[in-house]
Amino acid sequence: MNLFRLDASILPGASTSAEIADLAEAEWTAAHPGGTVVRRHLGTDPLPAEAWTNATLAGFAPEEQHDEAQRRALELAAALAEELQSADAAILAVPLYNYGVSQHFKTWTDLVISGAGPTTPVLKGTPTVLVTSLGGGYGPGAPRHGWDHSTPYLERVLGDIWGADLTVVKRELTLAATTPGMEGLRDLAAEQHRQALAAGREAGRAIAGN
Ligand SMILES: Cc1cc2nc3c(=O)[nH]c(=O)nc-3n(C[C@H](O)[C@H](O)[C@H](O)COP(=O)(O)O)c2cc1C
Repeated sequence: MNLFRLDASILPGASTSAEIADLAEAEWTAAHPGGTVVRRHLGTDPLPAEAWTNATLAGFAPEEQHDEAQRRALELAAALAEELQSADAAILAVPLYNYGVSQHFKTWTDLVISGAGPTTPVLKGTPTVLVTSLGGGYGPGAPRHGWDHSTPYLERVLGDIWGADLTVVKRELTLAATTPGMEGLRDLAAEQHRQALAAGREAGRAIAGN
């Protein structure tokens, strides 16, 4: 059995999304002690941003005209798509940055689509946990309700395009404990933290088949 684990935090030493994803991963590993975990960390090892352009433009030219950069980009895109296609389960930890996904995550997504094809469901039926963490709160009633442009995009790509059997674990208000002006949200933030940790464990058990 093979678990694909992706992280996208640019602060891996204190990652709130990794904290939850680690719990989900521990449940999967406990259920599959002989299993393999394939890791990709986009925060510490970002993919080259120009690879997507090179892979895409290579698709417009016959193979014999591809240059070295295009050949390497096509190989990378194919390898990234294969990582997903060969996964029996997947866990992705993706924070909200600047009201969207990071360019690191977008580059990875674009390369997977380039490698697999725009409509190929690379995670078809794969039990998948998306952990996402957000510094603020964006639910109904919040002043910035609707400003989270990351979660809907992630659900669209992972669930609707790639066909994952998707469970989303979302933790909001991660900055409340340390940000002046958010003091009144600290109790709510602590409760959301507790709930997200429990949801992460439960989601890990579910993708492990328990
Ligand atoms: C560069 C940067 C940009 C951020 N942009 C936002 C944002 O637009 N909205 C928000 O609510 N939080 C934002 N945050 C806060 C993160 O979403 C929050 O700290 C989250 O918990 C990070 O996840 P991580 O700990 O796994 O890295 C940002 C943080 C960083 C470092």
